[in-house]
Amino acid sequence: MSTDHERGRGRRQAKVLDRGSTAVAHPNIALIKYWGKRDERLVVPYVDSLSMTLDVFPTSTTVRLSPGARADRVTLDGTSAEGEVRRRVVAFLDLVRELAGRTEPAAVDTRNAVPTGAGLASSASGFAALAVAASAAYGLDLDDTALSRLARRGSASAARSIFGGYALCHAGQGVGAAADLSSYAEPVPVPDFDPALVIALVDAGPKAVSSRVAMRRTVETSPLYEAWARSSKDDLTDMREMLSRGDLEGVGEIAERNALGMHATMLAARPAVRYLSPATVAVLDGVIQLRRDGVPAYATMDAGPNVKVLCHPADAGRVADTVLGAAPGCSVVTARCGPGARLRTAAGR
Ligand code: DP6
Repeated sequence: MSTDHERGRGRRQAKVLDRGSTAVAHPNIALIKYWGKRDERLVVPYVDSLSMTLDVFPTSTTVRLSPGARADRVTLDGTSAEGEVRRRVVAFLDLVRELAGRTEPAAVDTRNAVPTGAGLASSASGFAALAVAASAAYGLDLDDTALSRLARRGSASAARSIFGGYALCHAGQGVGAAADLSSYAEPVPVPDFDPALVIALVDAGPKAVSSRVAMRRTVETSPLYEAWARSSKDDLTDMREMLSRGDLEGVGEIAERNALGMHATMLAARPAVRYLSPATVAVLDGVIQLRRDGVPAYATMDAGPNVKVLCHPADAGRVADTVLGAAPGCSVVTARCGPGARLRTAAGR
């Protein structure tokens, strides 16, 4: 028979285990974009990409093993997740369980400080946080490269959010297991370049076409896709050179042309995918006007209408005012380089 003291200790231990493993990750914005998969099942990109991890809009994810439960439980911002979101999280947990040789279901609780599905990289921070929290919860001891590879299976852009600052994601070589093994992100040390990224939230609602569907359609039907993928290689080489020089104008010009090229491939898809709205175009005009007025400012857009404007930190206020003038009613957040994904609480530790 157990004593009161032992029972008390058991309760305390159960409480510690109950806390699960919590990880925090930040979104990243690609300066050289990833668009298109060469292996959909393994989520392997066609092109290398390079991003800046942000210091805003973190995702916090807790994974708690529930050995007694019949199935995984997934909540997103306090609401039970269903459909595609739940399917992707459960598929990701299945992968982690396979790697760990475990079978217990889990409860996953995700809190996003960014509107989900609005082209603000919530899947990047989301799957980076989930990779770190789930691998800890299931007892996997993975280094950053393995975590990045794992996060990629959830969402390829998430591979980059494992790292802070700048990260390069390799499209990898070969097919099947070889492709999986060789596609991961790694940090790109850039000592002297800490620009501001003014984020214009012109529409925080969910996007009409998911990036997954849009990218497949682009690869399959856009006659411009291959040309963009080829030119992206040169963009990456030039980008690395400009980053190492800390040259904001150079970095900005390349990032803007690479993003506009990506959107051109989507516009040429059949049927066309158009994420850019009238408010997006108004902000782009504002950015051109800033440059005419001598303020170095450069735009990039992802799978949504929001615009991110790269500029010197000292110009961020003026850029924000211009954006607000161009798209009244939008909200503006200024980001800088942020940290990589980190475990906050490990189950039972
Ligand atoms: C336009 O990583 O969200 O933001 O791998 O299908 O989950 P999946 O796609 P996702 O695509 C992001 C595309 C992008 C450009 C980028 O971040 O590189």
